[in-house]
Amino acid sequence: MKALVLIGGFGTRLRPVTYSVPKQLIPLAGKPMLYHVLDLLPPDVEEVALATGYKSDLIEAYVRAHPPRWPVTTVPEAEPLGTGGGMKNAGGGMSDPFYLLNSDVIASVDLGALAARQAGHGGLGTMTLTEVEDPRPYGVAALDEHDRITAFVEKPEPARAPSRWINAGISVWHREVLDAIPGGRPASFEQEVLPQLLERGVYGFRYTGFWDDAGTPARLLRSQQLLFDAGRGGKGTVPSGTFGTGPVALMPGATVRGASFGKYVTVGANAVVEAGAYVENSVLMEGVQVDRDATVVGSILGPKARVHPGHRVTGQVLAEHGEA
Ligand code: GDD
Ligand code: MG
Repeated sequence: MKALVLIGGFGTRLRPVTYSVPKQLIPLAGKPMLYHVLDLLPPDVEEVALATGYKSDLIEAYVRAHPPRWPVTTVPEAEPLGTGGGMKNAGGGMSDPFYLLNSDVIASVDLGALAARQAGHGGLGTMTLTEVEDPRPYGVAALDEHDRITAFVEKPEPARAPSRWINAGISVWHREVLDAIPGGRPASFEQEVLPQLLERGVYGFRYTGFWDDAGTPARLLRSQQLLFDAGRGGKGTVPSGTFGTGPVALMPGATVRGASFGKYVTVGANAVVEAGAYVENSVLMEGVQVDRDATVVGSILGPKARVHPGHRVTGQVLAEHGEA
């Protein structure tokens, strides 16, 4: 089977970091969000097409420098085509059926079991569904007693959410789905296309493991916690020569001697946390500098951001080269 990954969004809810870096390259628990998504793919997937748009060149360069285990091709959009348009644009060489993944979701879904469910019912597609407290920011499904999806509402008004089971952004589709998407113009798969397809048999695959969408600052940090708690961020300790609890994921070239850490921290490539500084529940991207005796809690620091000696940063998203 092949896989199509949607990775063309602007990441507006993670600005200002996403003015310079696409959100899928923000590291969580030691590696970019995108690579945690790719980790879901079975080893025998033949090819992964990345439907890119915004900052496609950065994604392509990163993937070339850090090749995943599957052959990857990048299919950029000149203009943002939306999720449906991106599928149509990049889906030409897909297998039948194929996996479709959003690039900002954190989960441990068994894609082999998802594909088996699809083969078992013979409908057009199968969507992983996860139950959430508040379905309003997501696409919400109503299901019949055979878990066939009978209605789908993207980002419903509170009174219109048909259930609390939402689209987890991990699905499998027959190729024919691509014929149902209008070509040459932007289209939202979830809003415009999917509701028309339900009569052809779209099923829910109920998933109860950990899940989050890392598309906002709070959810990004929660996604990182989930990954660390699931053992996806290396050892649950602090690096040698440092103090505190961890877990901490150090990326290549990070320097942290004499620093202290609370829980859930990524220190990006070539970032520096000086002696006496304290970092907790945060993502420090490439080349970040946290000076001596500074404190960083609950924050996302963009590439080369700097926190000056003794300064305190709490609950902030700092741009590339931002200072505090
Ligand atoms: N190629 C391409 N082109 N990809 C796009 C475009 C585009 O124009 N716009 C968004 N994407 C990608 C994003 O990069 C992301 O990986 C995925 O499509 C979904 O876009 P988001 O902007 O993250 O959507 P969302 O989180 O509000 O909602 C989606 O995900 C939810 C689960 O996290 C929907 O699929 C919901 O139904 C779902 O519940
Ligand atoms: Mg999202």
